[in-house]
Amino acid sequence: MDHQVKEYFDYALQLVKEAGKVLLTAKDYEVESKSDVYDLVTVYDRKIEEVLVKKLKDKWPDHRFIGEEESEVSGIPDLTDEPTWIIDPIDGTANFIRQLRMSAVSVGLVIRKQQTLGIVFNPFTDECYTAVKGHGAFLNGERIYTNGETDITKSIFAYELSLARNPKYLDLYMYRLKHLMKIITGIRSLGTAVMSACYVADGRLDAYQCDGLYPWDIAAAGLIVTEAGGKEFDLMDPNFLVAASKALADEYLIHEKKADEERINAK
Ligand code: IPD
Repeated sequence: MDHQVKEYFDYALQLVKEAGKVLLTAKDYEVESKSDVYDLVTVYDRKIEEVLVKKLKDKWPDHRFIGEEESEVSGIPDLTDEPTWIIDPIDGTANFIRQLRMSAVSVGLVIRKQQTLGIVFNPFTDECYTAVKGHGAFLNGERIYTNGETDITKSIFAYELSLARNPKYLDLYMYRLKHLMKIITGIRSLGTAVMSACYVADGRLDAYQCDGLYPWDIAAAGLIVTEAGGKEFDLMDPNFLVAASKALADEYLIHEKKADEERINAK
């Protein structure tokens, strides 16, 4: 592994572990809504992002940052060729607030617009997923692989309908859900994009689909899935689909198209 990338990885891993452990002792904090009643934030989201950015910036002052909480205030910065750390301080904030133990700190590093490393740590289950481009994906240091499933009828999808809250999209997503329910083995909705994708990476789930996501939901976990052998995806595409195999992703997209056609024909 490139010496410089290893230095980035080792330092970031230590910071993510420290940040995750803070969540284990969280208590008596206020919850605020951001863009809407379901879009929640706590002092822990803000503080963890602030600390991660500060410590990384102290070490590498020229690096750039895309963080969920700062982007909420100042907008999402453009992705340039410079090394850019993409941070979700708590993915699954609503789960965290409800003590569902299904939330993670997520940090990815993109260099020349290429995903270089990804770290996702769920401190509640002590699951730490990591990947460095070209060097495989790992769970707590053990190499992981997707299960390679290609048959949609045998698959369990993590499927999240975040955009269906918007009446403009509700009907579209109800059609897709009805269609999918008829053909696949099961659906789960975990409330965290990064953990859903990591469970595809280690073969517990077959695919994860969610529209309307942001780079911080995708950067680290997406690399972990591709390094585990899963289907590739576009970092800046908000419609996130990761799957155990390209064949499974392609089959899903065919069914998504069919569901959209059924809806149009029903009108
Ligand atoms: C959310 C989670 C959730 C997804 C939402 C995201 P947050 O991130 O990943 O699973 O459906 O679209 O915003 O707000 O908990 O960091």
